[in-house]
Amino acid sequence: MSVIEEVTAPRSFERIGMHSHIKGLGLKDGKAEFIADGMVGQVEAREAAGIAVELIKRGKLAGKGILLVGPTGSGKTAIAMGIARELGEDVPFVQIAGSEIYSSEVNKTEFLKQAMRRAIGVRISEERKVYEGEIKRIEVNKTKHPFNPYVEVPESVTITLRTEDDEKTVRAGREIAYQLMGMGVEEGDVIQIDAETGRISKIGTVKEEEGLFLKRKVNLPSGPVLKIKEFTYTVTLHDMDVANARGNIFGLLFSSGAEISDEVRSRVDETVKKWIEEGRATLVPGVLFIDECHMLDIEAFSFLARAMEGELAPILILATNRGMTTIRGTDIKAPHGIPIDMLDRLLIINTHPYRKEEVREIVKIRAREENVEVSEEAVEYLAELGEKTSLRYAVQLLSPASILAGGGKVEKEHVERAKNYFADIKRSIQFVEKLEGMLQ
Ligand SMILES: Nc1ncnc2c1ncn2[C@@H]1O[C@H](COP(=O)(O)OP(=O)(O)O)[C@@H](O)[C@H]1O
Ligand SMILES: [Mg+2]
Repeated sequence: MSVIEEVTAPRSFERIGMHSHIKGLGLKDGKAEFIADGMVGQVEAREAAGIAVELIKRGKLAGKGILLVGPTGSGKTAIAMGIARELGEDVPFVQIAGSEIYSSEVNKTEFLKQAMRRAIGVRISEERKVYEGEIKRIEVNKTKHPFNPYVEVPESVTITLRTEDDEKTVRAGREIAYQLMGMGVEEGDVIQIDAETGRISKIGTVKEEEGLFLKRKVNLPSGPVLKIKEFTYTVTLHDMDVANARGNIFGLLFSSGAEISDEVRSRVDETVKKWIEEGRATLVPGVLFIDECHMLDIEAFSFLARAMEGELAPILILATNRGMTTIRGTDIKAPHGIPIDMLDRLLIINTHPYRKEEVREIVKIRAREENVEVSEEAVEYLAELGEKTSLRYAVQLLSPASILAGGGKVEKEHVERAKNYFADIKRSIQFVEKLEGMLQ
């Protein structure tokens, strides 16, 4: 179980880190509060996104998508993430940039297929028989190594597990003895042993502990030691594709983004449908967010338009900062560089540049998230800078300013110095233009 949980995690960590403070859309009865769920201002767009969430939940957005249009740093990605968070905790959120379809080692449609299937979760429930309880006593029975009489090896283990209502002593073989020793379990720990596979999970400890590496404190379980428990975990269709293509789930760890055959994919779809019918699994459609969607070409758009009709399709959210521009791969001009048949399917939400009050609050939230202490004056200065340049720039200055402050409290002077070291986009363009002027 833990293997499956781990492999679903590695998505674009870094980019999501920038948005780790976003916990939802911050709505109450459909109205946006000025600050809530890590979201600040951008009230109308958040409320519109809230309506989109309602439509998604009612299945009214099937075959359609959302288009976020606004300048850089106006919260398009943040809102897309907010939408995914509102849909549920284990709802996948996959973020790609339009230009990525060209740089991948697989072709454009294969890349998009994989991205779509990463954005669809399958929540699997399983009932398993487990021994669960606090370790009251653990005794590893050792024996001489078969070849080397000077070495002792574990031969079996005897464990007494206790709950509020029950106590049981079990004896298990060498495999489990090794597992337990490897995990460093001790008396007072609460563990689960899968009765069939012998897999052990450490749940926590019932003991009060002092020190740095605290174990999770848990209550003493109740009920019988041997019981049937339901386990739920979410994998993505893409995880299942890769696992099937390679024959086992460990293939995932070494996956290099190679092509997956459609045959494998339809086999996985069949399996998932069967599980759903049997009540063992539910589908968790997530969000595929394509940033800079004007970088997609006409082929990619027609593929996406068709794929959105499929029964196993994620929610598509596109974002761009372009107005009228040519559709890549053609010389046709279209709004946002998006073909009309695709545009027809999209609900458009505009995001506006931030005002100073909004930038100030977002900077404060980010500072807290990044564990950077910032003086009032420095926050004020960052807010001004953010309003004049972009929110993104103000947020980005936090880390260099913190380094310039030697990890201590960031003052206005540190922000000023960071600002001199790192240019915002406008200044950077002026710089190049000035150089070009000098050369002519
Ligand atoms: N309304 C908001 N509330 C809180 N944080 C925001 C908000 N809008 C943007 N941010 C944060 O500001 C930064 C830049 O916004 P981002 O969503 O990347 O803009 P865009 O995608 O439009 O370029 C990110 O760290 C983002 O999480
Ligand atoms: Mg963005």
